[in-house]
Amino acid sequence: MAEPVLKVDNLSKSYRLGSQEIRALDDVSVTVEGGQLVAIMGASGSGKSTLLHLAGGLDTPDTGTVCVEGQNLASMSDRKRTLFRRRRIGIIFQTFNLLPTLSAWENVAVPLLVDGTSGAAMRELVADIMRLVHLENRAHHRPQAMSGGEQQRVAIARALLNDPALVLADEPTGNLDSINAAEIWQLLRRLTREMGKTVLMVTHEALAASYADRVYVLKDGRVIGTIEQGEPGHAALVAARYAELAG
Ligand SMILES: Nc1ncnc2c1ncn2[C@@H]1O[C@H](COP(=O)(O)OP(=O)(O)OP(=O)(O)O)[C@@H](O)[C@H]1O
Ligand SMILES: [Mg+2]
Repeated sequence: MAEPVLKVDNLSKSYRLGSQEIRALDDVSVTVEGGQLVAIMGASGSGKSTLLHLAGGLDTPDTGTVCVEGQNLASMSDRKRTLFRRRRIGIIFQTFNLLPTLSAWENVAVPLLVDGTSGAAMRELVADIMRLVHLENRAHHRPQAMSGGEQQRVAIARALLNDPALVLADEPTGNLDSINAAEIWQLLRRLTREMGKTVLMVTHEALAASYADRVYVLKDGRVIGTIEQGEPGHAALVAARYAELAG
């Protein structure tokens, strides 16, 4: 069997706030196979964002390992890890993090400008990605002239531009209404089905999690179970199993 795109083993992370120690993650293991959409579901404060940040190499664990495409992030120098992250990992946040003075097209192209890609190659790549997220008619709009769903699709396009192995999404629909949210979940699913992308998405919503192939349930920094899933849009199934697990 092929190597998983993401393998997180026995991850623990504590934060110290004054004299108090908060164990944000406690011995968490998660595996995401290539071409899967996997969700991390849990209540506020359960450690979801902490896990995503560690998986993306944005922070380092106290103990445990994170391997992306078989490469241990901890064994890389800071410089190599930064480069690896830029090339192999795309990250999407709840707040779209677009640059307000740039157009949709320019926002998407930012990573290529950093990498020094040539003009013609860049235009073609960006045009392809804009079509993929159905934004070809919004190229010249600035973020403030787009809906929340469109802005998030710009952020997704930007995250996909370098053809990353792993896409990480932290509550990507937290700021969207239900119709725009469903479009984003379908898009993330389409990326796995049609492009073979691998996606790890954090959410507290059963409906969002229903789009995933597998759901890891987090509670108080621990994985308390998984839900194998296959009925996008059917929140009730996930919600019932989640309630059973989380009590
Ligand atoms: N930088 C930090 N310093 C101290 N404590 C932190 C820090 N970041 C997170 N925590 C704590 O770690 C725990 C897990 O936080 P995390 O942000 O991972 O939760 P979450 O599941 O993403 O929650 P939410 O759904 O509200 O985003 C929480 O108790 C939080 O208060
Ligand atoms: Mg969070």
